[in-house]
Amino acid sequence: MPPGTTTAFAPAKVNLALHVTGQRADGYHLLDSLVMFADVGDTITLRDAPEMSLTVTGPRATGVPTDARNLCWKAAERFGAAVAITLDKHLPAAAGIGGGSSDAAATLRAMADLYNRSFPTENLATLGADVPVCTVAHAARMSGIGDHVLPLTMAPLHAVLVNPGVDVPTPQVFKTLTTKANPPMTDWPDHGGAPAAIDWLQTQRNDLQAPAIALQPVIADTLAALAATTGNRLTRMSGSGATCFALYDDRTTAEAAATQLQSLHPDWWTTACTLR
Ligand code: C5P
Repeated sequence: MPPGTTTAFAPAKVNLALHVTGQRADGYHLLDSLVMFADVGDTITLRDAPEMSLTVTGPRATGVPTDARNLCWKAAERFGAAVAITLDKHLPAAAGIGGGSSDAAATLRAMADLYNRSFPTENLATLGADVPVCTVAHAARMSGIGDHVLPLTMAPLHAVLVNPGVDVPTPQVFKTLTTKANPPMTDWPDHGGAPAAIDWLQTQRNDLQAPAIALQPVIADTLAALAATTGNRLTRMSGSGATCFALYDDRTTAEAAATQLQSLHPDWWTTACTLR
């Protein structure tokens, strides 16, 4: 890599459970969420440059802003230095898997690497509610409005992610949720590995799933298609949707399920992955 250039991986974020526990006076919702990160994602490349620029490449580049509206750009500005950013986009945007927030967090990590100094950690949630957890980029419990992050040790989980290609605006999903004060997550088993984690996850929820389905019924079809795959242990929506996931006991079973779904629904974005 040329001097003055660095890259960072921006993994997909998956909310394995997402409980909405209240609402603040300013309208933001209080969350309690178990988050893990996939081995699929976007890649950010930064190059030292006299002025800011952003180029978006890759299979999901269409429609991604290439100016100061992009969270990568906003994240780089927080660092106070100009860079030429290339964002290689593989994750669907506005899909409940933290694409923009993970890109912003990867930009902060890459900026820190490029300039050999730590990135500013204040008010990261104002960039996007998922940015703080995305700077951790491995298993964590997220609470507050997304600004409290507690890293966790979790066994890797094997998953399939599916996005049916519909937009579900996050503010609208929160608005459609009628009961704001729901119980938080129960304590998870810190031993027993992946099987115990999956058993525990079955007793948790995503409170945004029902309101997202009310807005985009195809999410229910996506969950049903995942639930029908061989070896599926748990099926749920991530974030405010529309991406849904299913968990499997091993990677081979997850990959077979992804292949099965790709042939049934070639127009859906489908990938097998490992969550950490
Ligand atoms: O921060 P982010 O862009 O992900 O949030 C999108 C929208 O989702 C916010 O403008 C807000 O309407 C809603 N939101 C919320 N409570 C949170 C996070 C997001 O109400 N904790």
